[in-house]
Amino acid sequence: MNKSRDIVEFGDFQTPLNLAKQVALIAINSLGNIRTIIEPTCGLGTFIEALIEIETEFSRKNPTETSIKNIIGWEINPKYVEIVKNNLSVNNKKILISVEEQDFFQVNWSEINHQLQEPVLFIGNPPWVTNSELGKLLSKNLPEKSNFQKFTGFAAITGKSNFDISEWILTKICEQISHTNSAMAFLVKTSVARKVYQNICQNNLLISSMFIRKINAKKHFGVNVDACLFFAKGTTSIINEYLCPVYNSLKASKPCTTIGISKGKLISDIKVYKKLSDIDSGCEFKWRSGVKHDASKVMEFQVTTEGLLNGLGEIVELPDDYLYPMYKSSDISQQELQSPTRKMLITQENIGDDTQNIIKWSEKTWEYLILNSKYFDARKSSIYKYAPRFSIFGVGDYTFKPWKIAISSLYKNIKFTKIGLFQNKPIVLDDTCYMLGFDLEKEADLIFQILTSDIASNFINSLVFKDNKRTITVSLLNRISLRSIALRLGLDTDFERCFFVDSK
Ligand SMILES: C[S@@+](CC[C@H](N)C(=O)[O-])C[C@H]1O[C@@H](n2cnc3c(N)ncnc32)[C@H](O)[C@@H]1O
Repeated sequence: MNKSRDIVEFGDFQTPLNLAKQVALIAINSLGNIRTIIEPTCGLGTFIEALIEIETEFSRKNPTETSIKNIIGWEINPKYVEIVKNNLSVNNKKILISVEEQDFFQVNWSEINHQLQEPVLFIGNPPWVTNSELGKLLSKNLPEKSNFQKFTGFAAITGKSNFDISEWILTKICEQISHTNSAMAFLVKTSVARKVYQNICQNNLLISSMFIRKINAKKHFGVNVDACLFFAKGTTSIINEYLCPVYNSLKASKPCTTIGISKGKLISDIKVYKKLSDIDSGCEFKWRSGVKHDASKVMEFQVTTEGLLNGLGEIVELPDDYLYPMYKSSDISQQELQSPTRKMLITQENIGDDTQNIIKWSEKTWEYLILNSKYFDARKSSIYKYAPRFSIFGVGDYTFKPWKIAISSLYKNIKFTKIGLFQNKPIVLDDTCYMLGFDLEKEADLIFQILTSDIASNFINSLVFKDNKRTITVSLLNRISLRSIALRLGLDTDFERCFFVDSK
């Protein structure tokens, strides 16, 4: 089903009233005293309705008191503004409510700041859409680049090719609440909340009392996205440490983890990380990606009883000289590693090697490459542009090491696998895997023991965010000091002897 243009362009998921009410109550209780509330992208006004209900219930119990004095709603869609205005005319007269057609990216903040009574609570559910999704529609619903760069913290965002519109909106609001008693409470993708948190830390904004409370976006909005309520409150005091507890739900009484920041990087469980932070000092070996060729139809073969079957469905006759047994992510992530059932054509031993030599050593392989050259010549990535024809990447002496420790970049479970030779040939990995290569089995065994220890697993889990598209990245692996883990495991002598003292 095609998403409607409004949903794509304006990230238009209206919040159900009961969810808006729960969020508003949490925000009001967390902020305490509130004079003004701004819903910057108010849509059909659910948050405004929720706030009025809360205030009405409050004044019924406390007839002489009103806490919220003023509610302001902004919305880009004039139809929505009209609907909200019509609905409001019958509502509460104690609170001053104004709903205006307003593009958030055109707000005159200096004028607004003069008029507002503090503390302000910014609340709502900003559009769930990225600038590149908008770009596809040539939408104008984007912040002006010139404005964009004036604000601290935005440089990081503008430099990126893709960011969520809500990230920009929240970052702008962070600047409004920093160094004040105001606060914000927004429903956003959890990944956006983390980016905003990181931005707050990196720019040393005076914002504290942050938290993330996860929500069930499938239940409330019918979308499979990790989403949350992100709350943050301005302060005038110096901040010693930026912390952001994460709760599994709106109602959970205890956080399941606390996000922190170390060396400018986000940490998913700062308490565990602090206990193991010596491990975050760099890997003694270089983690590598598997082989990249962007031509799996003709470079990878299933071994069948009839022969080698390529991705075009052809049985091909190829000598073994340039063929290597291979594993993909799905193979190395299995509970029990099976023997390889696929082969990969490896055209170079090192990046940039002359591929013309293949004709000399293996005429049949060369004929096959020429026959299928259109698949190689059509490869889009710029890396192939000035490289020899039939080039591959992610290849070097490590590719041909007999022993490997590998992990998938695609799967959420953190599983290291030890790989040896198959039919006397090194097994190669595709580019969805990361690996370390070793000459000796005992070296691979030691590294496997280190990486599969509870200490390694706790450390890695303290760094990764399982809801990120990629949990394991090569930069994460290259942060892990295997020596530090070995030391903690009492394997330091073995480690030094194996790799750094010549005793082979
Ligand atoms: C995810 S919906 C949420 C609506 C409302 N906040 C709620 O919680 O029900 C996002 C709203 O933002 C509005 N919007 C999108 N871009 C905007 C902009 N630049 N300025 C103001 N509102 C905008 C959309 O029209 C849409 O109503």
